[in-house]
Amino acid sequence: MPAMELQGKVAVVTGASSGIGEATARALAGAGMDVVAVARRAERLDALAASVDHVHAQPADVTSDDEVQTLAGAVASQFGACHLLVNNAGASLGGPFLGWDDVAEVRAALDVNFFGAIRCMAAFAPLLFASAPGRVVNVASVAGKIAAGYPGYSASKFALVGFTEGVGASWAARGVTVSQVNPGFVQTEGFPQNDLTASPLTRRLVATPELVAAAIVEVARSGVPERTVPRWYRPFVVARHVAAPVVRAATRRF
Ligand SMILES: NC(=O)c1ccc[n+]([C@@H]2O[C@H](COP(=O)([O-])OP(=O)(O)OC[C@H]3O[C@@H](n4cnc5c(N)ncnc54)[C@H](OP(=O)(O)O)[C@@H]3O)[C@@H](O)[C@H]2O)c1
Repeated sequence: MPAMELQGKVAVVTGASSGIGEATARALAGAGMDVVAVARRAERLDALAASVDHVHAQPADVTSDDEVQTLAGAVASQFGACHLLVNNAGASLGGPFLGWDDVAEVRAALDVNFFGAIRCMAAFAPLLFASAPGRVVNVASVAGKIAAGYPGYSASKFALVGFTEGVGASWAARGVTVSQVNPGFVQTEGFPQNDLTASPLTRRLVATPELVAAAIVEVARSGVPERTVPRWYRPFVVARHVAAPVVRAATRRF
């Protein structure tokens, strides 16, 4: 598959008001793209747009059909194209699951982490196809490959991984590759990783948002279907498929 030149092209990044999305918006603008930065906190987006050339603030809530459709309409009329959609908006919803009281949180996790991406793909599909060749990069998680204690969150990411793989062939036929980027532990506002960063022994397991942003830029260029970041998590993901009982035993304590 030929590499995509990013310079002068248009990207939409959801969840760009902090963490991985903000770092990705900066990195893509640095690569020469016009970047539409999306999230609910408009003041954060305005501050980002004011400090980085070629970043444009466009507040929207990805759990709202209407707001996502308005967003796609605004990008179409302002830029006339969309070559890259990064579905990154997400939240660490869905703790332990013990019964009915926890159903609402599982639903909430799916609504933002899974259906948020689906809404954006649906709303941007006509513009992406018309602007082809193009890319969709869905930010799932290693938790979308190995479920270890956060069933609602993991379910939302497993669903996103399944959808990404399932839709890939039909979108590729229209000139748009659909890829998954699966981060491990990353220190951000929504995922502070306090337990891991508290100890020098486990601190090394935690990556930066900039490392994930660099992987997203690479995937946007190459269109590879899947990327785990940091790369050293990859053997665990492979092991989940070839030696599932071993991985289950290892993660049982979580
Ligand atoms: N950090 C990790 O360890 C880790 C690991 C694997 C995967 N991930 C995934 O990486 C993605 C980014 O997370 P992060 O770590 O960078 O966390 P973060 O700093 O908390 O960023 C989450 C972003 O999503 C946005 N967002 C949340 N709900 C939204 C909604 N309904 N509509 C629009 N935007 C919404 C937030 O903006 P507003 O609040 O302003 O809307 C924020 O910009 C998520 O999908 C997460 O699941 C993170």
